[in-house]
Amino acid sequence: MEKILLQLNVNGQGYELYINPKTLLVEAIRDHIGLTGTKRGCDTVSCGACTVMIDGMSVKSCSVLAAQAEGTRITTIEGLEDNGKLAPIQKAFIDHGAYQCGFCAPGMIMSAQALLNENPDPTEWEIREGIEGNICRCTGYNSIVRAINATAKGKYTEDRS
Ligand code: FES
Ligand code: FES
Repeated sequence: MEKILLQLNVNGQGYELYINPKTLLVEAIRDHIGLTGTKRGCDTVSCGACTVMIDGMSVKSCSVLAAQAEGTRITTIEGLEDNGKLAPIQKAFIDHGAYQCGFCAPGMIMSAQALLNENPDPTEWEIREGIEGNICRCTGYNSIVRAINATAKGKYTEDRS
C-alpha cells in the first residue's frame, strides 16, 4: 500500500510521518513517534489503555486512524507534565496509590483529565461513569476514584512539585 505523508501535533510538537494510511493512531504514537507511555492493550476498543486526548477529549487511540487525527491537538500522558513537574492528576494518582502494575494508569489518567476538563467538579458517580471505558485489573477502582476526586476538589491544583 502506498504510504502517505502525515502531519501530527502531539503534545504541542509537530511530527511529519510517512506511513501506511491504515496506521492506527496508537501505532503512530508508539511506533513512529516513540512515545510509549500510551499503552496498547486489547486493540478492540475495550480496555482504555490506549486513551489519549484529542482537542481535550478522551479518545481510544486504537479506534482511530492516525490520518483522522491530522489537524487536531493530540495529548499523551507524556504531555501532561510541565517542564518535569507532574500535573495535579498525576500527583494525585501517586499519592492515592491509584495504580499497582501501572499498565492502565496512562489511559486512566488521560480519561480522568478529559473528564475534569469537561466537568471540573464531578460527583463520585460522574467520576465512575467518566472512567467506565478504562479497565483496571488491579486496584478495584476506589483509589482511582479518590485520586480524581481529590484533584477535582483542588487538593493538587497548586501543587506541581
Ligand atoms: S488498546 Fe485501545 S481500548 Fe484497548
Ligand atoms: S494498575 Fe494494573 S491494570 Fe490498573
